[in-house]
Amino acid sequence: MLAQKLAVVTGAARGLGFSVARELAAAGCLVLMVGRTAEAIDQAARELQESGHTVLPHVADVTDASAVAALAARLRREFGRADILVNNAGVLLEPKDFAVPQSASVLVVDPEIVALTYACNALAPLRLIQAIVPLMRDQGWGRIVNVSSSMGQLAEMSGCWPGYRMSKAALNALTRLTANELDGDRIKVNAVCPGWCRTAMGGQDAPRSADEGARGIVWAALLPDDGPSGGFFRDGKPLDW
Ligand SMILES: NC(=O)c1ccc[n+]([C@@H]2O[C@H](COP(=O)([O-])OP(=O)(O)OC[C@H]3O[C@@H](n4cnc5c(N)ncnc54)[C@H](OP(=O)(O)O)[C@@H]3O)[C@@H](O)[C@H]2O)c1
Repeated sequence: MLAQKLAVVTGAARGLGFSVARELAAAGCLVLMVGRTAEAIDQAARELQESGHTVLPHVADVTDASAVAALAARLRREFGRADILVNNAGVLLEPKDFAVPQSASVLVVDPEIVALTYACNALAPLRLIQAIVPLMRDQGWGRIVNVSSSMGQLAEMSGCWPGYRMSKAALNALTRLTANELDGDRIKVNAVCPGWCRTAMGGQDAPRSADEGARGIVWAALLPDDGPSGGFFRDGKPLDW
């Protein structure tokens, strides 16, 4: 069995996932970088390997159940462990322009777009958790970070992007349910909002870099045994659900 901690980061080819993969590798983990296309994830992994990081690429569309099963099988066969799961892959499929009605109103949003958004932002994390928790349970230790958003906060829910908001609220519910069920297993499960970051999703006007947004995700991935579970955080500080 691998001696290092093994971290799985989805959506690691770019944006927040790439920064998280680099920082977890810098903290001593072997990072399995999961991406949708071989070309992009191989290139991203090569970039980190060339700067001395222990990372490996893995191709999987996280919305594909058989690809998630194949990922779990590789973890068991090749490494015999999975310590950290960062459910980072996400999509915002609604138009970003406030002037476009579909991005603003729950009354006109295309339910098919909502379903596709759910598939990536909420159901894929559920599948990954179901596939990887058995490994964590075997070793009696684990950290799961669901990369959520303040846009999923029920406390602040208003206007725009209903599909994205509902998917992140569902991810937050998944966080609570999983943390509750794993209470006592030394597996911590938390949701993290990275803040508004300059990535393909966040756009160039965002105030934070991807590296800044990644810090709070890495914090939750490396929590000590007396750290919190079942919470929602930004920069290591609790957020309202
Ligand atoms: N940026 C922000 O301001 C912000 C704020 C709050 C929360 N977040 C959350 O942070 C996470 C990362 O976002 P980001 O800003 O880094 O976005 P991004 O630059 O658009 O990156 C998203 C990543 O997810 C991957 N992905 C999408 N669908 C996938 C699928 N079906 N299977 C595998 N990978 C898939 C993409 O892969 P491809 O390269 O193949 O498309 C890409 O690597 C998301 O969950 C997002 O909701 C972002």
